[in-house]
Amino acid sequence: MRAVDIIIKKREKGELTREEIEFFIRGFVSGDIPDYQASVFAMAVLLNGMTPRETTDLTLSMAHSGQILDLSDVVDIAVDKHSSGGVGDKTSLAVLPTVAACGLSVGKMSGRGLGFSGGTLDKLESIPGYRVDLSTDEFKQQLKEKGVVLTGQSLDLAPADGKMYALRDVTGTVQSIPLIASSIMCKKIAAGAQAIVLDVKTGLGAFMETLDEARILANLMVDIGKLAGREVVALLSDMNQPLGCAVGNSLEVIEAIETLKGGGPEDFREHCLHVSAHMLVLGKRTKDLGEGRALAEKAIANGSALEKFRVLVQAQGGDVSYVDELSKFPRAKYIEVVNASRSGNISQVQARSVGEASVTLGAGRTKKSDPIDYAVGFIIHHKVGDHVQKGDPLFTIHANDEAKLAEVREIVLAAHSFSDVQVAPLPLFYS
Ligand code: URA
Repeated sequence: MRAVDIIIKKREKGELTREEIEFFIRGFVSGDIPDYQASVFAMAVLLNGMTPRETTDLTLSMAHSGQILDLSDVVDIAVDKHSSGGVGDKTSLAVLPTVAACGLSVGKMSGRGLGFSGGTLDKLESIPGYRVDLSTDEFKQQLKEKGVVLTGQSLDLAPADGKMYALRDVTGTVQSIPLIASSIMCKKIAAGAQAIVLDVKTGLGAFMETLDEARILANLMVDIGKLAGREVVALLSDMNQPLGCAVGNSLEVIEAIETLKGGGPEDFREHCLHVSAHMLVLGKRTKDLGEGRALAEKAIANGSALEKFRVLVQAQGGDVSYVDELSKFPRAKYIEVVNASRSGNISQVQARSVGEASVTLGAGRTKKSDPIDYAVGFIIHHKVGDHVQKGDPLFTIHANDEAKLAEVREIVLAAHSFSDVQVAPLPLFYS
């Protein structure tokens, strides 16, 4: 077999066999198939799609590119969650410690920023020392001892996704149902959780802009998970406007910590409680969502969720003092509040524009080797449906470069639309 023939077959809309997919993934991971061939393969898949059978084979090949964890010797039941990617989506940072504080073990393998959407690993690395490269043994040991793990693809867990993800981020090959489904599900299968909650985003700041596409992605991932013997639930959630207020790595970590302390934006807190409740039910810790939500609320109110976050940070080598002294996070050189130039009801905060603007500031990458600027980003002060008066703060820019600040000011201003008539708030979940 030759990589080029597999690429051409997909370019010509052919259906790849399992052997061809396995050959490609094996070659890519070993280095025999270079990045440029893997990039055009991803583009051919994005343009011509894959059947559910091909997507399942791709997922399993990527999952088996490293070890598949069997967690049954360390915990009775491990639960995992994953978001399909959005703007301001720092859910894992708050949900994992909350659920773990409720007595359910949670081990998760996350990703980095992808296109305009932020990544949990980049956010976590804004805490000095935090390690996202745990080995399989470390993953299992920490899950057993601490009941919570939040790491990245190490060399021995789904390495094919780690490599492919970095290429997709900078080659315009993110927005593809088979590539997203396989990327998410290979990590979930490799990380060994028996129960998985998928948070599938839809809207202007999601990779799936329409509810129909999001539903197809959700169903496909649920099917793949079930085929791999896992219990899977998918939620369809809104991503037309940023989730919470903070967009940008350390700003989002700070917002997640504030939420764990009982504060944080209302929409983000609600979102986290709902996802936590689903995880608690799926993990058989509570019998229904109401009970799950109450338990999660209690873990936040009594400080045990925040304490679990400290435990997580410490276990992975991070500087725990950042959790208690939020002023330690690096601050951007320029912090500018932009006010509303008119009164009215907010009818749109275009999430994708805000996400792209945060990449412009340096919060994400445009090339694989780009460094991340952890301090930059935005605080978006209002939600769709809010009424604002002329002169009210609309958003705050955190920038380290004056020219970029001027550029994103216009972009994020244009991302806000106003209406003179009342506007209904957006729902948090569709299904
Ligand atoms: N999250 C992932 O892990 N992979 C994707 O492709 C998109 C979101």
